[in-house]
Amino acid sequence: MLFQKKNKSLFSNKSGSHSERPRLTLGSPFAIKEAFNSIRTKLIFTGKGEKCPVFAVTSSLASDGKSTAAVSLAVSIAMAEQRVLLIDADMRKPSVHRYFSTEYRNGLSEILAGLSSEIKLRSTDIDKLSILTAGQIPPNPAELLGTKQMDLLLDYVRQYFDYVIIDTPPVSIVTDATIFADKITGYIMVVQSGKNHLQDVSNAVRQIEEMKGNIVGIILNDPENKTAAHYSYRYNKYYRYNRYKYYGESNADSRK
Ligand SMILES: Nc1ncnc2c1ncn2[C@@H]1O[C@H](COP(=O)(O)OP(=O)(O)OP(=O)(O)O)[C@@H](O)[C@H]1O
Ligand SMILES: [Mg+2]
Repeated sequence: MLFQKKNKSLFSNKSGSHSERPRLTLGSPFAIKEAFNSIRTKLIFTGKGEKCPVFAVTSSLASDGKSTAAVSLAVSIAMAEQRVLLIDADMRKPSVHRYFSTEYRNGLSEILAGLSSEIKLRSTDIDKLSILTAGQIPPNPAELLGTKQMDLLLDYVRQYFDYVIIDTPPVSIVTDATIFADKITGYIMVVQSGKNHLQDVSNAVRQIEEMKGNIVGIILNDPENKTAAHYSYRYNKYYRYNRYKYYGESNADSRK
């Protein structure tokens, strides 16, 4: 695995401490920090003017690197002295808590189901970064994400943070990620190099589009790229939404 070198994560910090799962830390190599800083800069421009932009990180399929990218992006924004809340909206397969060695219970699902009136935000080892874990796994995640409680939650946290990043399940597998499309600033799609077919990505884009979602950019995750060991997250290009759409349509034409 690219982040592993001599049994040591390239993401681990210089003090030797590291999280349960690899992600960006203060001690990560310069190249990895730079890759996320580049994405962060683009996002900051994308959300300019909005009080607290809310970005959801998603992808077409499972294990594309969504959670790792969402966590690392949130860390990168917090490192730029912005207050960030990272929400784990993958209530089927929670994972944000694993990057911060905490537990997932008492989080989003309890709030959305009305089981808890307290919003339990957890602080992290990164100054200015808080997380809202997924909560207990509910029987109806998509339904919960479509409730009025979700609107209220986002309105509430927007008062206290500069950015909200939401980790989500894969768009082509479950509908959860697109349910709140009209409530957020936009989606960041993670595309895994050598794994995702263009048709998978096009389908995911179409699903987001059908729900009136806005795709603000793409992260090319390239975990197996041997030639770019230090650039395992390559920021390829921030496609404008229209350009991406054109790209998908052009591919559809070529299949006729
Ligand atoms: N660039 C990378 N280099 C090496 N390993 C990576 C990279 N990106 C992700 N991984 C690893 O791949 C696995 C899946 O990543 P992650 O959990 O972020 O994907 P996901 O899209 O959120 O998956 P899911 O759909 O299950 O939520 C994890 O073990 C993660 O550490
Ligand atoms: Mg995930």
